[in-house]
This record gives sequence, structure tokens and C-alpha cells, in this order.
Amino acid sequence: MCGIVGYTGFKSAAPILTDGLRKLEYRGYDSYGIVIPERTGFFIHKACGRISGYIPSPEVSSGTCGIGHTRWATHGDPSDENAHPHTDCTNSIAIVHNGIIENYSELKRGLEKRGHVFRSETDSEIIAHMLEEAYNGSLFSAMKQVIPYLTGSFAILAVHAGDGEIVAARFKSPLALGIGDGELFAGSDITPMIGFTNRFIFLDDGDIAVITPETYVIYADGIKVSRDIQQLDLSPDQVRKGGFPHFMLKEIYEGPDVFADAIRSLTSETLPEPIKDAGSFTVVGCGSSYHAGLIFKYLMEEAVAVPVRVEIGSEFKYARTPLSEVIIGISQSGETADTLAALEKGRCHNHSTVAITNVLNSSITRMAENTCFMHAGPEISVAATKSFIAQTGILMQIINIRSNERYDEVLGRISHLMQIVSLEPLTEAVNLCKDSLHIFFVGRGVMYPVMMEGALKMKEISYIHAEAYAAGELKHGPFALLGPETPVIAVCLPGRTYHVMISNIKEMKARKTPVIAIGEENDTELSDIVDIMIPVPGAHLWQHVLQVTVLLQLFAYHTAAALGRDIDKPRNLAKSVTVE
Ligand code: G6P
Repeated sequence: MCGIVGYTGFKSAAPILTDGLRKLEYRGYDSYGIVIPERTGFFIHKACGRISGYIPSPEVSSGTCGIGHTRWATHGDPSDENAHPHTDCTNSIAIVHNGIIENYSELKRGLEKRGHVFRSETDSEIIAHMLEEAYNGSLFSAMKQVIPYLTGSFAILAVHAGDGEIVAARFKSPLALGIGDGELFAGSDITPMIGFTNRFIFLDDGDIAVITPETYVIYADGIKVSRDIQQLDLSPDQVRKGGFPHFMLKEIYEGPDVFADAIRSLTSETLPEPIKDAGSFTVVGCGSSYHAGLIFKYLMEEAVAVPVRVEIGSEFKYARTPLSEVIIGISQSGETADTLAALEKGRCHNHSTVAITNVLNSSITRMAENTCFMHAGPEISVAATKSFIAQTGILMQIINIRSNERYDEVLGRISHLMQIVSLEPLTEAVNLCKDSLHIFFVGRGVMYPVMMEGALKMKEISYIHAEAYAAGELKHGPFALLGPETPVIAVCLPGRTYHVMISNIKEMKARKTPVIAIGEENDTELSDIVDIMIPVPGAHLWQHVLQVTVLLQLFAYHTAAALGRDIDKPRNLAKSVTVE
């Protein structure tokens, strides 16, 4: 969690850092801070809350070097004191840190005994004090001495008063450099640098880099190393809202194109070798990525009869049963700690590993032997939407390639069908649900994980308690909660589950529960028994999966908008969860 950014060059650093932090806020937004070295000491501005309204005035500091941080609190409350940057006792070294220093208590006790006074409750502050003890005229040498004492994960940027140099260190937390003309950047990802440069270096674990306006030097184990420069042509437009009120809405509308790109990106030639003939799969992911894995399970087992086990990343470490041949880790960001740990476990047991991710050079691409890229473009809103669509596209394409009955035509029409969504009944559904305390999302078969994803979207951005249930399980408990105050949204489409869903809906109606149904257009048997009917055109089951997904994304979005929620940055959440 947390985002860090650094700049050293010829322009005023403060606006570049604050603008960069705004772009990194998806990684956490409990507090923010920047530090700019002055001739003696530092200019520091840090505060609890979001950076949104902070615009540094030019007279604040015209320094051309600095580092910044946006925080997702782990050690210590969100507060001004706990906000980064942190400085040493002499106020001549300042650091920002993303990650967790697991052995910080022990290190802190030692530092306190030696007279260091701490101003925050964070694990990160120890780094500034340790650098102070090790400093002997070179910040790089100090960093080199300190790093071996730290356990956990970190991306650190450090500056010294009076200097235009930044020292950067990476271990298990992402850190990239941007190489400009007379200016250099550092960041948790490249979004703050887009528009300034298209040349990037992704540091490896153990790297320490020394960055000045003109040069950079990277060391691994104390020896100078060279790392490839990657040219990535991303435009600033890709990280702008483009006329939409929220990134989430923009990203939902990008879904159809993203789906088409995802399926095009994977062919029988580019499908990773281990997937081609594996007799079983284990899929691991968190949040929406986990739900995409569950959809894969239902469709793969049905179409190809290959067993798929799906695990939540954080639970996988407790699994004792034998693993399947191939482990697929799904992660939009490629940085989710639990998913990375699961793949690591798979590798240790000599299983083939495949990553499905949206981020080039993310940690998961280094962990897994093979990678399928989602090509969804940057996703800014915390709630996953287009990335979930892309994951589902990649996973459906895997099944298509593995299946004897090719689904090319079915897949080819999905983007078009996703765009035919009736907004009018959706507005009625929003009005029915927006003041509820609880909403149930129910479905059967593959529609169950689709509803799990719908409920997740609803709870994370509207703050309404939304719970997904396999419709058959309702009678085993949740029925006690149903009644006029608790709406249910149910998917009831033609196919194997239709008649039993109709019976389930009648049982709910007998308890005076308001029911919103997603059903096939012109289905009067269904529309006659429910309160609101959201129709979708007749289609293949795979196509319905995507249509219902988009409807539920829009349902959550418009409910949250009606409630005036902070849609792109819901409270207490972060997009990239890099701690266990
Ligand atoms: C966070 C995000 C979710 C995402 C999950 C897994 O909780 O808010 O949208 O689904 O992490 O993230 P990943 O990057 O691994 O897909």
C-alpha cells in the first residue's frame, strides 16, 4: 500500500510531486506529504487526509529535488505525525517508505536506547534514524549499510538536506525510475511520470539507485549494474477522466473495448505452454480477481471437464491438500501480497505458474514463469471494473482455446452485447435500493460468482451491506433476514437454472421481499412476479455473464452516486493491497 514519488531536475519539484501523488492516491489516501531539501534542513508539508485540495504556492519552496508519499495506514493512525516524510533527529535526512518493516520494534528499541527520539508510531521512521547513524558523507553508503538490517518489504526514497540527489531502494515493493532530459523521476509506478518521459527502468529486488538530474547509477550487492530501459508510449489522456464525472464510470464504458482487446491478445500460439495441456488448475486471486477465478471454474469445468480449484490468496497459505499441475495467479495490479505469496508457494512446490495481470513489470511478472497481459490500460478507480472484464475475457479465451467446441463467435459478439444495457429500469432499481441497509444478490451456477462481484461493487462504493448468496442456500439461514425492508436482486435467465430460480423468487415474494430480476427481454413469466425487471437480450450463457457484470457495475455506480459517495476513492480502501 502507499505510493511514493521522487523528482530531481530543473523544474520546481513541489507541483510535480503533488500532482504525482494525486495519481498515486489509488494506493492509499489516509495522509500525504512532500519534502524538498533546502540549503540547510528541509521544506516539509504533510497532513492527514487527501492531497486533493493542496496546491503548493511558488514561494513555499522553489527547490528542484524532492520526494513525496501518500499513505494507507498500517502502523499508527492516519494523523499528521504519522504522515510521511519522516526525518532523523538532526533533521538532515528525510525518507518516504512503501511496505512494512517487520522487525521495526526491535530496531526501534535499540535506536531509543542510543538516544533517538521518535515523533511517529510508524515502522518507517526507524529508517531515517538508522540512516542518520550510518551516514558518513554519503547517503548511498548509509543506505547500503542499513538495508541488510531490514526485514519485510520496502520501496524507500531518501534525500539529504542541501543535496539534489535521491537514493532509492527496492525490496518486494515496486519502484520504477523515469529517465527524462536533465530530470529524473522515481515512483511506485509510472503514472506520475507519464507525460514527462516514456523511458522507464523497473528496479529489481535488492537494487539501490542513486539519482541526480543528469545521471542514475544502480547497484546490486554493492556492485554497479545496468538495467534495461523500457520505452512505453502512454499518453496523459489514459490517466484522465475524459469528460466522465468519475474514473469508475469511464472505466465501465471502456469495458467492451477492453474485452475485445483481451481476447485478441491471446491465441493458441501465445497461450503459455503449461496451460495448453494441464489436466487441472489452481487459481488464486483476491477481491474481484478471485471472482474472475470462480467464473473460470464454472465455465472451464463445464466446457472442457478439467477440474479447477479456486482459492482466495490470503487463505492459500493454509491449504494442505496437494496442488494441481498449474497455478494461475490473477492480479490486476500484479502487486497483491497474498497472491504473490501463493505463487511463491506454488513455485517452491515445483508447480508451473502463470500470472494474469494488467501491469507490465509488476512483481507478479517476476514471480511467475509465464504471464498473460490483460491490456486493459491504467485503471484508476479503486473498484475494479474494466480489469475484471479483461480478466474474464482472458480466462474465457483460455477455455475457448482448450475446448473442442470453439467459442469464437460467442466471444466475438460480447463487446457489442455489453453495450446494450437498459438504463431506465436500473434507475428504478437504484431508487428501490439506495436507502436499504442490506441487499442480497442471488444467482445459481456461474451467475453466483457474477453476483458475488456485483455485491462486492455495491458494498465497496455505496457502503450498503450487500451479500451474495447461491440461491439454493437462501433457505439455510438468510431467509430469516428477508422481508419488505431487504431487497433481493436475482438473475433468472433461460437455461438449466431458470425454473428453480423462478421457484426461489416466488418463495421470496411470499415473504414480501422486493425482488429486482435480471431476465431475458419479453419473459413475462418472470416480469409478472417481480417488482422490477431489468431485461437483457437473448444470448449465450458466456455473453450473459458479461452483460450481467456490466449491469451490476452500473447498478453499484448509480446507487453510490445517488448517495453522494466518494466513488473513486471509497473510505478505508486502497487499490493495491501490498500487505498481508
Ligand atoms: C483491492 C482492490 C480490488 C481488487 C483487489 C485485488 O481490494 O480494491 O478492486 O480486486 O485488491 O487486486 P489485484 O490487483 O490483485 O487484482
